Amino acid sequence: MCGIFAYLNYLVPAKRKEILDILVNGLKRMEYRGYDSAGVGFEGTNTKNGGFELKTIKQKGKVAMLQEEIAHSTDLDFEKEYDIHIGIAHTRWATHGEPSPTNSHPQRSDTTNEFLVVHNGIITNYKDLKSFLISKGFEFESETDTEVIVKMVKHIYDKNPSISFRELVELTIQQLEGAFSLVFMSSKYPGECVSTRRGSPLVIGVKSKAKLSTDHIPILYSKDHRGLMNPSLHHTDSTTEFHPIGNKEVEYFFASDASAIIEHTNQVIFLEDDDVAAVQNGCLTIHRIKRTLDESTTREVTTIKMEIQQIMKGSYSSFMQKEIFEQPESVVNTMRGRVNFDTNRVVLGGIKDFMVEIRRCRRLLFIACGTSYHSAVATRQLMEELTELPVVVELASDFLDRQTPVFRDDVCFFISQSGETADTLMALRYCKQRGALIVGITNTVGSSICRESHCGVHINAGPEIGVASTKAYTSQFISLVMFALVMCEDRISMQERRNEIIRGLKNLPDQIKEVLKTDEHVHTLARELYQQKSLLVMGRGYNYATCLEGALKIKELTYMHSEGILAGELKHGPLALVDKAMPVMMVVTRDKVYPKCMNALQQVKARHGNPIVLGNTDDKETQQQANKFIGVPSTIDCLQGILTIIPMQLLSMHIAQLRGCDVDCPRNLAKSVTVE
Ligand code: M6R
Repeated sequence: MCGIFAYLNYLVPAKRKEILDILVNGLKRMEYRGYDSAGVGFEGTNTKNGGFELKTIKQKGKVAMLQEEIAHSTDLDFEKEYDIHIGIAHTRWATHGEPSPTNSHPQRSDTTNEFLVVHNGIITNYKDLKSFLISKGFEFESETDTEVIVKMVKHIYDKNPSISFRELVELTIQQLEGAFSLVFMSSKYPGECVSTRRGSPLVIGVKSKAKLSTDHIPILYSKDHRGLMNPSLHHTDSTTEFHPIGNKEVEYFFASDASAIIEHTNQVIFLEDDDVAAVQNGCLTIHRIKRTLDESTTREVTTIKMEIQQIMKGSYSSFMQKEIFEQPESVVNTMRGRVNFDTNRVVLGGIKDFMVEIRRCRRLLFIACGTSYHSAVATRQLMEELTELPVVVELASDFLDRQTPVFRDDVCFFISQSGETADTLMALRYCKQRGALIVGITNTVGSSICRESHCGVHINAGPEIGVASTKAYTSQFISLVMFALVMCEDRISMQERRNEIIRGLKNLPDQIKEVLKTDEHVHTLARELYQQKSLLVMGRGYNYATCLEGALKIKELTYMHSEGILAGELKHGPLALVDKAMPVMMVVTRDKVYPKCMNALQQVKARHGNPIVLGNTDDKETQQQANKFIGVPSTIDCLQGILTIIPMQLLSMHIAQLRGCDVDCPRNLAKSVTVE
């Protein structure tokens, strides 16, 4: 998805070169989100009347190409120093109009660049707005929906040249429908910057030598476009206790992702939908127009714990490789402080106050997309066993298409690495409106799903940069297992099973290290497979999710066709695909469905299939049946999927690299899918 980064320095002198480097670097930190063009907007030449003109540089392709374009701009004095300056930058993932410099952001209000904007999201009423603006004499140069925003700003400004920049943006967003996060700059408002969001994330980093005057910014309430304030709440709209953030020697960083900010500051403010954050004379204020009774009247300055090393590749060839190899530690972080291996107690702090309500529910719904959905499939069987409740697992997009019935006594889990996936977020709001209890299972602190849930569990896997989800999957898996363990803690009949699972969890980090040792062997198999067109991945029971997730990894990274097939369904169609040429993998581990899996293996072999078997290292019998074998340590049935997915992650990565594909940024995909 698109990425926004903006930098405002107030009384912190910086040369143009430094500013542009900060902007470009911010974009590089968000490259993993997926994009096809990039651009920057900054202060350009001085005008005769003492003002200045804004300048943009935009380029199709990678951020490195934009960087080159900037370096070759002969008309720029890179040594020019600014005490106060605002620069905005953007990586674009094309939705309206092909990737090109003209369609890239910043988009501008007019040929003199009076106003510039960078935008994430989609404006759904842009056609109406465009017709209106054309009727007012505006000429459009791009095919983007974004251009209407900045032209609307100019239109409103021309009619009200004395209003503040913040008011101008407030009036503009009242005309917009759809999803957006926006950062504006203008030659009419030097040194000022206004940002806002609705349905698309935006975070502001604050860096100042002086201690911040407050750790909560009070919300200020503005009048709406008719000049009215919400009457029932009017009396509480006071600004007398207002302590602004900043005002001298301060730097602000605006980004769609905290990972772009962390190298500058760990003090951040997550904006909520319809917040309008403005910086004027170095002070940051947050305004809102609408106010609902239950909303918070402040925004907290949060200290984020992410480390810069966490978002650096280090010696790994890709973020994906780094994240696969981090799993022995990331699973420990997911369990840290939650599973007590001495007492066999499991405590999930984020939901403990809601456990009475959860235990009383009539059914559990798990709703997610892609890999996150697979983590729910992987744990459904255990969830049913340990909770004895009906468990419904849903793809968020399909769930929304169906207008599914949801009741007040349902508990709905929304699983999302990014916490920003549009379909999952919409499904959350749908269930919340119907009175269900909302539990978020996310990896991104401060994300929309986190904030809009009643309670939740952070999977604590650390930042996941590779577009292909790897360590988040194993951590989601473990989080859901921990939840199932909490649900049955008082059930005497389940104690033995519970204790066995907890022992299994304890051994996982070492067992994952063992699995990672198969890397070279998996690489050899990848060399045999990489020129194939297709790969079928079969299994059943607890390993069915491994087949779905393994096949998803193969297709998204290698662009080969791949399908995860439930082995129980073989005779109902998929067996027709099998012949001696069709590459097949089968996941066969020693659990309750082992005999059925062996049966499926025989059926495939009888059709001259030659499957690679992914099984338990100590299972010599199965090994003998397989021509090629990848062994993983044995664990309890319900955790086996955590170990069997890792060779699939490695395999997809190696095949992709052998095919010359970019494993961190697969074509056409984005890390966080913030549009439906
Ligand atoms: O951030 P989320 O977990 O909500 O993302 C959901 C899917 O878009 C995501 O898991 C996607 O399927 C991955 N790229 C797969 O590797």
